[in-house]
Amino acid sequence: MEFATKTIHAAQPSEPETGSLIAPIFQTSTYEQEAPGQHRGFDYSRTNNPTRARLEAVLAELEGVAHAAVFGSGLAAENAILQAYLRPGDEIVIPQDVYGGTYRILNRVFQPFGVVIRQIDIGDDAALAAALSPRTRLVWIESPTNPRLLVYDITAIARAAHAAGALLVVDNTFATPLFQQPFQLGADLVVHSVTKYLGGHSDLVQGAVLARDAAVFEPVKFLQNATGAIPSPFDCWLTLRGLKTLELRMQRHEENARQIAAALDAHPLVRRVYYPGLASHPGHEIARRQMTGFGGMVSFELDGSVEEVVSFVSSRRFFALGESLGGVKALVCHPARMTHASIPAAERAALGLSDTLIRLSPGCEHPRDLVADLVSGLDAVAAARGAVAVSAVGA
Ligand SMILES: Cc1ncc(COP(=O)(O)O)c(C=O)c1O
Repeated sequence: MEFATKTIHAAQPSEPETGSLIAPIFQTSTYEQEAPGQHRGFDYSRTNNPTRARLEAVLAELEGVAHAAVFGSGLAAENAILQAYLRPGDEIVIPQDVYGGTYRILNRVFQPFGVVIRQIDIGDDAALAAALSPRTRLVWIESPTNPRLLVYDITAIARAAHAAGALLVVDNTFATPLFQQPFQLGADLVVHSVTKYLGGHSDLVQGAVLARDAAVFEPVKFLQNATGAIPSPFDCWLTLRGLKTLELRMQRHEENARQIAAALDAHPLVRRVYYPGLASHPGHEIARRQMTGFGGMVSFELDGSVEEVVSFVSSRRFFALGESLGGVKALVCHPARMTHASIPAAERAALGLSDTLIRLSPGCEHPRDLVADLVSGLDAVAAARGAVAVSAVGA
């Protein structure tokens, strides 16, 4: 079955009782039992719920594995993996530009319990070899990364992690299973912020963990019930609805990103564009090898001041200023003051996260409108500089 067909048909038969084409929302907390302990797979909705179970089955199909568990947010999903696998003294290796929330949960929640965090340039083979030790339990990567869209060689990192006896976790939020299948590249666990492209409409917060092996999955599944960070049946139903157009949406997101990256790349006020689809992107060749599309996100550095960045991001017509990404409505974000503000300024600078970096999440609008909105914003910055220069001359 092809990917688009799976999003609509996999694990989604019409509802057997009524023939309802689309499964209902099982908005229930509990289930009647035939005899004590005798039920039809459902006893209490923290443990299991038919709408949630259906979503988990679909997500597992899309990532090409047998096991999925969904959570109340991407960070709740991340927490389940970290809690399942890290004990005091254990080590985790993470990339330099890991998502800010992952950085925060590791440094503020797990480090105080004695977990050792090794944050390195994970694309550097020697740095990775030096960071791995017999205490390394997890190697954690995103690819493409947030917000600089760096691309890492998942196969090579999986090989190094496994040789050290560690598991490889891949955050596949930016790529989505349409464009990247991390299990085929050696990942042991995949995590998603479902909030983003999988949900796709900026109307829910949700996360997912996937695994190929039952033994690797079991401790995470246990924590889903034991710690209870589950999503509501309604949110699961919304994701099931969103997934049905995942391929269509991703095609438009990608086309928009491609046109925007090209327009920005040609603009004199843009110092640097980060988009894996550009031949000049350092991860372009790896992306071509391990992805079937370059994704829908574009970041760029304005050749200007932080004040100009603030003015640019605050006054777009179609790009709403907001955190998050991956919805049908375009968003723009200033990572230094928004998503990555939890990373101290000095560390941001050391990680190469410029304060004039702007992150774009093109929606499913028409590319002409989005490109025109960005170009007119850049032209306005240039015009404001001209006006200042003229008034200085006048003074
Ligand atoms: C790459 C990535 N992973 C994980 C998360 C966390 O997901 P959530 O916000 O759903 O908790 C985010 C959120 O922005 C993200 O961008």
